[in-house]
Amino acid sequence: MDALIRRFQAKILAFYAEKARDLPWRHTTEAYAILVSEVMLQQTQVGRVVERYERWLARWPSIRALAAASLHEVLQEWSGLGYNRRALLLHKAAGIIVAEHQGDVLLALRSTKIPGIGPYTAAAVRIFAANEDIVAVDTNIRRIFIHEFGRDAAGPARLQELAMQCLPKGRSREWHNALMDYGATFLTARSTGIKPLSRQGRFEGSVRQLRGKVMKALIAAERPVGMKTLSTMEPDTKRLRTALHGLVRDGLARRAHGGYSLPGRDT
Ligand code: ADE
Repeated sequence: MDALIRRFQAKILAFYAEKARDLPWRHTTEAYAILVSEVMLQQTQVGRVVERYERWLARWPSIRALAAASLHEVLQEWSGLGYNRRALLLHKAAGIIVAEHQGDVLLALRSTKIPGIGPYTAAAVRIFAANEDIVAVDTNIRRIFIHEFGRDAAGPARLQELAMQCLPKGRSREWHNALMDYGATFLTARSTGIKPLSRQGRFEGSVRQLRGKVMKALIAAERPVGMKTLSTMEPDTKRLRTALHGLVRDGLARRAHGGYSLPGRDT
């Protein structure tokens, strides 16, 4: 097994030495910047994240700057990236890290669970910012392990264990970057036929699409958006209600004066 692991490590690191992608978040070890990149990358493709990441950091260069921004500004800046809830959670996390952890992102992620930042994201930030010898297994990395070690590696506990065994200690940052590139550009889902655990559903005609449309209107509006306007977006009242209830539940919208607005606006 040891020889197998060493050969696997050598293969991945050799691939990276030759074919590393030059991505903007690889030029920093600043935990806040890495956190922004990881949240953006959760459900958005690398190519689309690149320019938005740089624009975001130009606007809010520090966790304190982000915490001081309004939710309205944050959602506006996020627009087009999809899954607005991520922006809300990132903004909330910034508030908590500033208020309760002196703005120290790394220290906060090491010491407690920050609401909205999942275990994968917390681990990824610690790895890319501080080169910690821990593992972060995303869908690309999971696929590599299954391809390399068989279906036996598919369960979450076994996967974590195997990932830890394979980690070249002291080179965690390089190793995870290497795995991500190998999985994203070489050992793709298409080339292996290994399916991710979850997949984004069809966007066209989905409630997610409708939620996006509603959010766009709420962000653009100076005052609450009435039901009359909202129903022009979706004639099926039941679907519209589902979308609105979901947004309220997620903290992205609130009922106000016979319509809906962003939370914190028009109070
Ligand atoms: N996907 C998630 N995190 C990533 C990263 N740091 N680089 C490239 N793709 C990623």
